[in-house]
Amino acid sequence: MKKLITAICGVMIFLIANSSGATPMPGYVGSKKCFNCHEQQFNDWQASGHPYKIRKMEKARYSKLPLPRGWRWEDISYVIGGVNKKARYIDKYGYIIITAKDGSEAKTQYNINDGSWSFYHKGEKHPYKCGPCHMTAYSKKGHEAGLPGMIGTWAEDGIGCEECHGPGARHVADNKVKMKVDSSAKGCGKCHHRSKIDGPPPARGGFIRHHEQYNELVTGVHKDLSCTECHDPHKRAILAKDNCASCHEDQGASFARNIHAKSGITCKDCHMPMASKSAIKTGKFRGDVRTHLFKINTNPKAKMFVAVKGKKDDKTNGFVTLDFACLSCHGSRDMKWAARMAKKIHQ
Ligand code: HEC
Ligand code: HEC
Ligand code: HEC
Ligand code: HEC
Ligand code: HEC
Ligand code: HEC
Ligand code: HEC
Ligand code: HEC
Repeated sequence: MKKLITAICGVMIFLIANSSGATPMPGYVGSKKCFNCHEQQFNDWQASGHPYKIRKMEKARYSKLPLPRGWRWEDISYVIGGVNKKARYIDKYGYIIITAKDGSEAKTQYNINDGSWSFYHKGEKHPYKCGPCHMTAYSKKGHEAGLPGMIGTWAEDGIGCEECHGPGARHVADNKVKMKVDSSAKGCGKCHHRSKIDGPPPARGGFIRHHEQYNELVTGVHKDLSCTECHDPHKRAILAKDNCASCHEDQGASFARNIHAKSGITCKDCHMPMASKSAIKTGKFRGDVRTHLFKINTNPKAKMFVAVKGKKDDKTNGFVTLDFACLSCHGSRDMKWAARMAKKIHQ
């Protein structure tokens, strides 16, 4: 009898995993199964970017995202992102779209912030091999949904509960079986890094590149803090805790007297400026992703980026310069002015 029940459970788990659309993997049940007992975490997670890293056409077509020139939803298999900064699209064969439907040159990356389009790897056939950072239980083996351009298979589209907490079948059947909980910064750094994981953040075109929060953290002044010190890992970035002054009481107090505090400016506006770029630059010294370096260097001659011989990418020093920290808002001023005024902010 027990064997039969186990067998039935096995089949049910298989069906549920299968109904989430991706390749069934042993032990994985899909995020929907966690809702009943962890409603709070589920709802927070669903409002964040993590689950939407990749969506099937059937789900994404209701998102109001526009398509690259000439393409119809029927020609699309998946949408990549399209929730925070930008969207890219995958064709029926699993390749990232890099031209107009008729094969002519076209911009194929949609930028949410201003509705503009950018080129994406113009002229290169581009398989979708981004799975290790975008999926749940990614495996290099096989081709998802049998599409030749999709490299690898996975248990669930996007970053589901079980990507961070491990397979849930045994825990769902018996809650006394513990799930994995990894609160280390490196656990998040597995995806939130570029190039060498502990290395300085790569930069290009005058901005730090995106998905480098771990490189930034360990290169900057908060190398001993975990991401979860400031983020509930289930919540959107804008819901990060407003906790700077709880560790930096003196600066919290001095800042409260400053003109900026009275204008509604907060710590992150100067210490975490948008010195990184994902989709577009939104001003002369303003990208679209906040940096995690935190320290402001008030020397007007300090250089944030250094060229590395033989490499396309520059490397970023462990601090923010005054162009990003001040001139991103005070566009009509110069570095000398900023250097003079910067010292007064926490007086
Ligand atoms: C039938 C109810 C139920 C379902 C379904 C369920 N859980 Fe749980 N979960 C619990 C209970 C009860 C606890 C608290 C156990 C404890 O405190 O030892 C718990 C604890 C946890 C913890 C905290 C563990 C710790 O050591 O702090 C995590 C993480 C977790 N569950 C993740 C999940 C995930 C992911 C899923 C879906 C795959 C899931 N749970 C499905 C009931 C459930
Ligand atoms: C498996 C890869 C992966 C892991 C592990 C991971 N992330 Fe992410 N994270 C992503 C991707 C990809 C995005 C982009 C999602 C989007 O914008 O659609 C993202 C987005 C985010 C965002 C912005 C979400 C929003 O909607 O505002 C925050 C904050 C974040 N991650 C924090 C964390 C923290 C904290 C951890 C560790 C507990 C973590 N991430 C672990 C891949 C990952
Ligand atoms: C990006 C990685 C990530 C994802 C995705 C994720 N979790 Fe978590 N979860 C964590 C981390 C890290 C902690 C520990 C938080 C801490 O140390 O403060 C945690 C803690 C928990 C806890 C313990 C209570 C709490 O809130 O701290 C539960 C329960 C839980 N997660 C359930 C879930 C469920 C259910 C999902 C999917 C709906 C999910 N998690 C998705 C990383 C993640
Ligand atoms: C090392 C892990 C990693 C790899 C590899 C990776 N990404 Fe990402 N990606 C991330 C993280 C983390 C974020 C969100 C944080 C950020 O942008 O700073 C992100 C964000 C994105 C976004 C923006 C989502 C949104 O809603 O705005 C898109 C689109 C995207 N990635 C596409 C790709 C494509 C296409 C590939 C493969 C060619 C790829 N990524 C490879 C980790 C990765
Ligand atoms: C959990 C405690 C904690 C939180 C929260 C925290 N910090 Fe820090 N911060 C530290 C520690 C520890 C250091 C390194 C030791 C030092 O120099 O004070 C540091 C260093 C710094 C420095 C460099 C100090 C120097 O002397 O050069 C800046 C700037 C800074 N933090 C800004 C911030 C901002 C802005 C926030 C909020 C987004 C924040 N911190 C949140 C603990 C914290
Ligand atoms: C208007 C921009 C601005 C805002 C907003 C701001 N700071 Fe600063 N902060 C600076 C500058 C510039 C420095 C460097 C001062 C120096 O080196 O003389 C600095 C230095 C610091 C330092 C390093 C120690 C020190 O006093 O030099 C800490 C810690 C810090 N700020 C924390 C905070 C916290 C916490 C908040 C929010 C309560 C905050 N800052 C808001 C501009 C700002
Ligand atoms: C000292 C506090 C602190 C730490 C530590 C921290 N963050 Fe953040 N993070 C923030 C704040 C504050 C924001 C800005 C939220 C907003 O835009 O209002 C943010 C924003 C983000 C964003 C969105 C950036 C954007 O503008 O699109 C991502 C992704 C992110 N954090 C991931 C991480 C990861 C991964 C780690 C660990 C490697 C980490 N954070 C560590 C405070 C922190
Ligand atoms: C997020 C935008 C923002 C950032 C970043 C910022 N400021 Fe401001 N600053 C303001 C606003 C808003 C005021 C309010 C008074 C006004 O309307 O000019 C102000 C006022 C000032 C004033 C007084 C008025 C004046 O123009 O003389 C000084 C001085 C100043 N900022 C210096 C700085 C310095 C130095 C930095 C960098 C360390 C900085 N600000 C970063 C938005 C910003």
